[in-house]
Amino acid sequence: MSPDQHPSASTARIRSETHHLYYKPHVDVSCRGDGHVEMVKGAASRKSSGPKQPLRTASKTGDSRFVRSVDGKPSLPLDLQQRCLNIFRDAFEPGIGDSSIVQEVKGHLYNRDFAAAFAKDEYLRVYAGRWSPARALGYLDVLHGLQAQLVAHGDGSKAGNECMRVVCLGGGAGSEVVALAGWLSMLFEEDVGSMLHAHFVDVASWNVVVSDLHHQAITAPQLSKYASAAAREANKPLVQGGAFFCAFHQQDVLDWPDSELRSIVTPDTRLVTLLFTLNELYSTSLAKTQQLLSRLTDAMPADSCLLVVDSPGSYSTVSFNSTEKRYPMLWLLDHLLLGGEAKPAGPQWEKVVSDGSRWFRLPPGLEYPIELENMRYQLHLYRRVNNIEAG
Ligand SMILES: C[S@@+](CC[C@H](N)C(=O)[O-])C[C@H]1O[C@@H](n2cnc3c(N)ncnc32)[C@H](O)[C@@H]1O
Repeated sequence: MSPDQHPSASTARIRSETHHLYYKPHVDVSCRGDGHVEMVKGAASRKSSGPKQPLRTASKTGDSRFVRSVDGKPSLPLDLQQRCLNIFRDAFEPGIGDSSIVQEVKGHLYNRDFAAAFAKDEYLRVYAGRWSPARALGYLDVLHGLQAQLVAHGDGSKAGNECMRVVCLGGGAGSEVVALAGWLSMLFEEDVGSMLHAHFVDVASWNVVVSDLHHQAITAPQLSKYASAAAREANKPLVQGGAFFCAFHQQDVLDWPDSELRSIVTPDTRLVTLLFTLNELYSTSLAKTQQLLSRLTDAMPADSCLLVVDSPGSYSTVSFNSTEKRYPMLWLLDHLLLGGEAKPAGPQWEKVVSDGSRWFRLPPGLEYPIELENMRYQLHLYRRVNNIEAG
């Protein structure tokens, strides 16, 4: 993870990162839909205490329920985006009091010392309160925009009541938890909701962040003691606990035993995501990343999807015969996933959506205790085709 992935409001500097994240033993935390958090190995749940920071209004110019995206299409309901931000606010209570810790974390990220940046619980909490909320809204926008591809089956039928299994690689910092919860609530509103089982696999120890956000997503917000009976009646969690399940697995995905990979990426997996993670993996080891993608190809069922979001124009440097060559992340990805024409079975993936540069801009009217930033990204969605289709 680099400072480049935490761009300032209007500039996204793009550089590839090379680093080695520290490796911790495997820890699993399962968050059951009833809010119970199951810790398989040594993780502890934390609830922060202390007074809430006063909320600062970022902008109050918009009051329409639906916000228009850059291309002018109606996009996400503003109140849903606000509810997603409130989840981060209530879980982490970010405020200007955190600014010295934010500076420490930024310093470690700037120096590409990722082990130090994620070494303390307070760093993780501050990171998740500072950088994950805007990304969560960006990912919610992405998921909603890709809904037809993600929810519909090959025959066009809807997912109905079946359970949707999603696996987020490098998905520890909490953006994906809230994006998936927000998306699930939209699916229920549109009457295409199903249960969603999300698995977050990350090398760093984000278990508490994931369980806190999951807890907030399935718990009705706290109301003032003066709230009216009607407000109390209307006060509901973002998603029902019985519909949204989360499990965190602390694991280096570049060194992932096959039995464990296959116990998470199961034959009923609908979606695997690599959100602002793939280039980091390439920068750690190109060979191991290509191997991971091959193993995902073997494990993922026909019609499931692989979603990649990353900084636009990400490059990875590869050393070969003592010379160094820079390859665009997308070229490496396409080469592995789509370069199978030479194989007798033909390609195993088709690219469904691809965009080299997009913006997610925070709409006016959202409130959050600290400043948030727009997100610029590239996006690629691949669908696993079965060999009969491919042939
Ligand atoms: C830039 S952060 C993105 C986090 C999250 N996906 C988001 O977009 O908010 C990259 C994440 O990938 C994780 N990561 C990096 N290398 C990894 C590896 N080898 N195995 C598992 N996770 C890894 C990091 O710990 C970090 O949480």
